[in-house]
Amino acid sequence: MFDPDDIPSNPCANPGRRVIGDLIEARLSRRTFLGGVLSVAGAFATGQGFAAEKSASRFTFQEIARGSDSRHHLPEGYVADVLLKWGDHLFDTRSEAFDPYQQSEAEQLQRFGFNNDYIGFLPLDENRGLLCVNHEYPSTHLMFPGIAKGFPQSIKAEHVMVEMAALGGSIVELRREGGQWKPVIGSRYNRRITPHKTPMKISGPAAGHERLKTSSDPSGTLASGTMNNCAGGMTPWGTWLMAEENFNLHFLGKLPSDHPEAASHERYGLSSTLFAWGLFVDRFNVEKEPREPNRYGWIVEVDPKDPTSMPRKRTALGRFKHEGGETVIASDGRIVVYMGDDQRFDYVYKFVSENVYREDAPDSDLLDKGTLYVARFGEDGYVDWLPLEFGQGPLVSANGFESQGDVLIETRRAADLLGATPMDRPEDVQPHQESGRVWVMLTNNNKRTDEQVDAANPRANNTTGHIIEIVEPGGDFAATRSRWEILVKCGDPSNPSVQASWNHATSANGWFGSPDNGAIDPMGRLWVATDGNEKTGAADGLWAMETEGDARGTGRAFFRAPVGAEVCGPQFTPDGKSLFLAVQHPGDGNGATFENPSCRWPDNNEQMPPRPSVVAIRRLDGDPIGT
Ligand code: FEO
Ligand code: CA
Ligand code: CA
Repeated sequence: MFDPDDIPSNPCANPGRRVIGDLIEARLSRRTFLGGVLSVAGAFATGQGFAAEKSASRFTFQEIARGSDSRHHLPEGYVADVLLKWGDHLFDTRSEAFDPYQQSEAEQLQRFGFNNDYIGFLPLDENRGLLCVNHEYPSTHLMFPGIAKGFPQSIKAEHVMVEMAALGGSIVELRREGGQWKPVIGSRYNRRITPHKTPMKISGPAAGHERLKTSSDPSGTLASGTMNNCAGGMTPWGTWLMAEENFNLHFLGKLPSDHPEAASHERYGLSSTLFAWGLFVDRFNVEKEPREPNRYGWIVEVDPKDPTSMPRKRTALGRFKHEGGETVIASDGRIVVYMGDDQRFDYVYKFVSENVYREDAPDSDLLDKGTLYVARFGEDGYVDWLPLEFGQGPLVSANGFESQGDVLIETRRAADLLGATPMDRPEDVQPHQESGRVWVMLTNNNKRTDEQVDAANPRANNTTGHIIEIVEPGGDFAATRSRWEILVKCGDPSNPSVQASWNHATSANGWFGSPDNGAIDPMGRLWVATDGNEKTGAADGLWAMETEGDARGTGRAFFRAPVGAEVCGPQFTPDGKSLFLAVQHPGDGNGATFENPSCRWPDNNEQMPPRPSVVAIRRLDGDPIGT
């Protein structure tokens, strides 16, 4: 999410142990744990500028230039087809064109939502598939004429209802003709999922817990929808995981400090209201419905092939500001989901299912039983995965936990007590099934002080973020002890004060700041999208990131977003010939409004505001992307 009021809400951002500056370098120089793969060649070029060095990068496209303007940019020979724009009708080919001056809840419920984020793709056959898109949050000041940024503001109930109808997710069938994907308007698969019109079951250990019961749901098992869905994932059995991230921004009010939920609300940042929903809808006012926030911050599982199916909030995967949920299969067949809690000084998690995944007899509730672990990154290069299990260690009634449901509802506090490592805003955590490696995007943390620096978060005032690589032993994703190292420290390597580290082969266009979403292409190569590179003076975009051989740690610029936008949801088709990207909040920025946005992408029409849109990228010669 672009620049949320993301104040840390972890009071024990403990900090750590001060680290001797060259400790990591000494460890990495041993190059002992990558099975012969060279560790970050030339990665410690901090402040050395760019040196000419032979690159063996597997990415051979012609890199694009840094910069910022009102257009998107791609290497020569590539084209981006704008596939779905905010306001496109999904159900009726005869519908009126989107009119941003005549919006209504009823219309928006039929149309593609706002601020597209995660993109999943479920192939139906070679040239058909279902696109699953999260719509993260409303940019009120860009959605409606005459509404200024900030809160409270001149917003009315009808605006709030449009905002609700514009969030959640969209499922859209696509067909490819002549290499070009197009949406199938009116497909029986098409579906909108929203915060208020999509009943969903709360399942797993916290379902029915007293703290999930509200006046509209005395059972504590039935939620009315999902919101703030940021990144996500697709499971091996073809379902879509939607991560609920900054739900706190939608809640108004504050509980008295002696209320039983007050401390927990504080830990989840619930006084940071950014939106006006609570003025008009009682359940978003914590003073009227104090337990409603407990029903958000979960991972939601959706079956895209059945538009009548009821999504499930899988409480076993914990409650926090879920950035994403990427799934792999462990060596013994159990399912592992990697997840980040995107807040300064919060944690990295993985969930390991109790039962194994069986392709011939899938268990549709596999994600309801298992163990949630939080990561403690040691200075010795090992990461310990600490189980969040009721009754173990500090997770007992003396600390206010009476059940596993309590542990999950207060996942953050449970992880605090276990001594997890406070990180520099964990965004997407991207595992790679074939190599047993996992890349953790740590986007930035300008609140970390010199005293709080540790091995895994080595820079104070880390404004540009870094990427950690975890190596699961023998490729066993269910392991409770793994190795880790830093792949790159992002930012400008020619500026010594940034203390960036990249492979020397990285060009002046190839470095970036604020990694957010990772994706693996069908060749096993890592791609990284950014949210916040604009702080370095150039637009956000998508970069190829070499992780192998001499070129390991080399970035290469592939896509540049229009001004004001972040890039989300990189997703390749299985043949590698198409790449879907979500361009979120184009035209935003300081002082940007509906009337005066910083650009009007993609319509570039004075009558139309900028519209968050999904693009499908392909090569004009039809070959796989990035080769
Ligand atoms: Fe919604 Fe952490 O980005
Ligand atoms: Ca994100
Ligand atoms: Ca990802």
